[in-house]
Amino acid sequence: MLVLLVILHVFGAAFWFGAVLLLAFVVEPSIQRAGGEAAAAVGAQLARRIPPAMAGAGITTILSGLLLFGLDSGGFNAGFMRSAAGQLFLLGALCGFAAVGAGMMFPRVSVERGVVFARISAAFLACALALMVIARRA
Ligand code: HEM
Repeated sequence: MLVLLVILHVFGAAFWFGAVLLLAFVVEPSIQRAGGEAAAAVGAQLARRIPPAMAGAGITTILSGLLLFGLDSGGFNAGFMRSAAGQLFLLGALCGFAAVGAGMMFPRVSVERGVVFARISAAFLACALALMVIARRA
């Protein structure tokens, strides 16, 4: 059961991080460079379709992560939370929440600023991912 939860968590994280990287470094810069009516039309479609996909991946990753954190820490036991692993998972989780905050700005701003927020979100996700992997071995 725990293994299935870890698989769900890592699949959600992989989709989320991969999608944000593609958006921030390939899709949005290409739309910006194309310009014109076609770019506006594609941009409008993306602004409609991306938020639900990202929300699905983000919610799956964060809910499964919180559940795993609760299970691994014996119900957020104070001793575990003070350990190196506990602190690293906590920091990784905070990076995940920061990535959600930056990602939520994406559809609310211009394409130019959207790229900046997508890159900030990608940076927080990269930190979260690295911290999770290190925490697991701490
Ligand atoms: C609220 C946010 C999060 C919490 C509380 C959380 C918690 C956890 C926990 C407790 C584990 C260990 C699972 C186990 O093996 O028992 C884990 C693993 C992992 N998490 Fe998260 N996570 C969160 C968000 C994220 C995000 C945003 C990413 C990456 C985009 C991520 C990527 C990973 C990866 C790749 C692993 C597997 C690490 C390994 O086994 O080497 N997590 N997470």
